[in-house]
Amino acid sequence: MKNILVTGGAGFIGSNYINHILYERDDYNIINLDKLTYAGNLENLKKSETKKNYQFIQGDIGNAELIRFIFEKYKIKYVINFAAESHVDRSILGSEIFFKTNVLGTNVLLETARYFEVEKFLQVSTDEVYGSLGEEGKFSENTQISPNSPYSSSKASSDLMALSFYHTYGMPVVITRCSNNYGPFQFPEKLIPLMIINALNNRKLPVYGDGLNVRDWIYVIDHNKAINLVFEEGKLGEVYNIGASNEMKNIQIVKLILNHLNQSEDLIQFVKDRPGHDRRYAIDSTKIQSQLGWKPAFSFEQAIVKTIDWYIENKLWWQRIISGEYQKYYSEQYKTN
Ligand code: NAD
Ligand code: DAU
Repeated sequence: MKNILVTGGAGFIGSNYINHILYERDDYNIINLDKLTYAGNLENLKKSETKKNYQFIQGDIGNAELIRFIFEKYKIKYVINFAAESHVDRSILGSEIFFKTNVLGTNVLLETARYFEVEKFLQVSTDEVYGSLGEEGKFSENTQISPNSPYSSSKASSDLMALSFYHTYGMPVVITRCSNNYGPFQFPEKLIPLMIINALNNRKLPVYGDGLNVRDWIYVIDHNKAINLVFEEGKLGEVYNIGASNEMKNIQIVKLILNHLNQSEDLIQFVKDRPGHDRRYAIDSTKIQSQLGWKPAFSFEQAIVKTIDWYIENKLWWQRIISGEYQKYYSEQYKTN
């Protein structure tokens, strides 16, 4: 049995990872540590909560005493660190929690993992650490790190800190840097779920600036399969870019959603641009494809429809988020605020 500490497993990507991997692997014992911030939701894990090789602990990755207790009690030998403050706009409004969680929290995990001599530590990073591209080119693993937002600079710090633990202490670290994800359970502050939900509610769809910023979209299941491949087979001390070669302008995505929902483009509202808005992201994933044999299984055309339909079929999930109902329920259960 592999005792794996998965952090941030109640968020979008982490919960999809757990729900997927528990059905693939019966040799994984998953300990999910999540603070249950506004973005963490145990409803995402209904499919997994009764599995005997799954346990949930509410807590902060920055709480050194708790982390040490978890490593001892569960004999943790592997870590996959999804936990983070993840939204760029929130980081612009206030950066402190981004540095507390993403930098200091990751440092606590790394130090504890070093003390307990873990066999692998996978740091889930992002393509945003590379900064912004012009019209041409793609991010490769050798592209110079050049983050532009408080969010991406905090992620770059944790990513580089994890690499430094490999170089300095020989700790078995691997890093993944993925592009923009979409799929079920994504918190409705991010572009795709926000636009779907606003369109379903006949509300305006706020498009930043000229709407021509480009993101490179990947279905969350493809990201998670790549993460697990890197976790199992990635070379220690290495970085792996993950992306599905699917560049889209924001306005194209918004129009596609409106079109699929038979809603009028009059709902589009161009609003003030995001400060420091990165213009274009595009990932070169040749390395993971050629060295580990990964390739995306979902086409954008197929998976975006699946995603829109999921939000139509799971109205209660997002309505409870919007009304704050889940938050109230879990704060009573776990005494958070
Ligand atoms: P999310 O915001 O949906 O989930 C983050 C989870 O982390 C939540 O469950 C939250 O409660 C938890 N968390 C936050 N602070 C914590 C703390 N101090 N201690 C313990 N748990 C804490 O984010 P996501 O979109 O699922 O992203 C997961 C990871 O993947 C992040 O590290 C993010 O940087 C990275 N990433 C995301 C994308 C994307 O497109 N969403 C792309 C590439 C990389
Ligand atoms: O590239 C990977 C990153 O993708 C992850 O590391 C981040 O955690 C994740 O949040 C995401 O960051 P982005 O800033 O690219 O995602 P977001 O969904 O916030 O925005 C996508 C694009 O859409 C971006 O160009 C800004 C624009 N946008 C976003 C919102 C929320 C709008 O035009 N209107 C909006 O209301």
